[in-house]
Amino acid sequence: MKKLIFVTALIVGLVYVVSNLLAADAQYVGAAKCKMCHMSKSRGDQFGIWQKSKHADAYNVLATDLAKEVAKKAGIEGNPQEAANCLKCHVTAYEAPASAKAATLTLEEGVGCEVCHGPGSLYKSMKVMKDLAAGTQDAKAVAFQTGSDETMCKKCHNESSPTYKPFNYAEAQKLIAHPVPEK
Ligand code: HEC
Ligand code: HEC
Ligand code: HEC
Ligand code: HEC
Repeated sequence: MKKLIFVTALIVGLVYVVSNLLAADAQYVGAAKCKMCHMSKSRGDQFGIWQKSKHADAYNVLATDLAKEVAKKAGIEGNPQEAANCLKCHVTAYEAPASAKAATLTLEEGVGCEVCHGPGSLYKSMKVMKDLAAGTQDAKAVAFQTGSDETMCKKCHNESSPTYKPFNYAEAQKLIAHPVPEK
């Protein structure tokens, strides 16, 4: 009996370690990699909705005169599109290690899908996506996040943003909504 408990604990431990290793290997691949499966009108066109949103414009906005003014007031010299203190909230995964970023991830995408849904390399296959939607795939093991997480939004929507506007989670969620339509 003792031996059985030991072996079970060992297996559970191994599965835990392996799934964490897999999750640790997940890379940010960029929003363009989600496009082909998330642009059909009948499935809700999540890519098109995001592309028209301010999140997709978050890097470009750093090139405007307004951004230069904001940077100056914040005491940041030089080009806001090269300033870590702006990029950390205006692009995908700025602070992630280089090893967690695939070559296909660009600054230009701004605040991309993976900011909210997690790095996509392990979950973007059709099989894993369908299993996630069906609830039969452990999200953590493939580094997937549902996106519905106020704390995550507030990593950027907080008072350390130099242009901070009060953030109402429920309203903000509605403004970025991109649901899959009911069948
Ligand atoms: C090979 C096709 C494919 C790719 C690539 C893909 N997805 Fe999906 N995804 C799907 C399908 C199919 C579903 C199930 C929903 C549906 O039927 O439209 C889904 C569902 C989802 C869901 C909802 C999951 C749930 O729990 O209900 C999210 C969020 C999502 N995808 C995000 C992404 C992101 C972010 C990327 C890029 C990193 C991506 N997908 C890439 C096919 C894909
Ligand atoms: C700013 C955060 C954010 C970004 C960026 C974002 N999403 Fe989402 N996404 C969410 C939230 C929040 C939900 C709702 C989750 C829920 O209701 O549980 C969601 C839901 C979804 C769903 C499931 C919808 C459903 O009805 O089941 C899909 C599919 C999806 N997102 C795909 C994408 C794709 C593809 C991109 C990029 C083109 C993207 N998302 C960008 C936050 C985001
Ligand atoms: C990585 C940082 C980051 C995260 C995380 C983030 N956002 Fe944003 N969000 C931004 C930036 C930057 C802008 C402004 C971009 C611009 O003006 O071009 C923005 C803009 C918005 C806007 C548009 C505001 C307007 O004036 O129209 C809404 C709504 C929004 N975000 C909702 C959310 C929600 C909801 C979440 C969480 C599910 C979220 N955001 C997570 C960085 C982020
Ligand atoms: C803590 C995260 C964060 C940091 C750091 C940050 N931003 Fe933003 N930025 C946001 C968010 C969130 C928004 C959209 C909502 C808002 O203004 O509160 C935004 C919006 C903007 C806008 C659009 C404002 C408008 O009214 O349309 C500009 C321009 C901007 N930021 C410039 C900058 C510059 C320049 C820097 C660096 C000096 C910077 N931001 C640093 C999060 C941040």
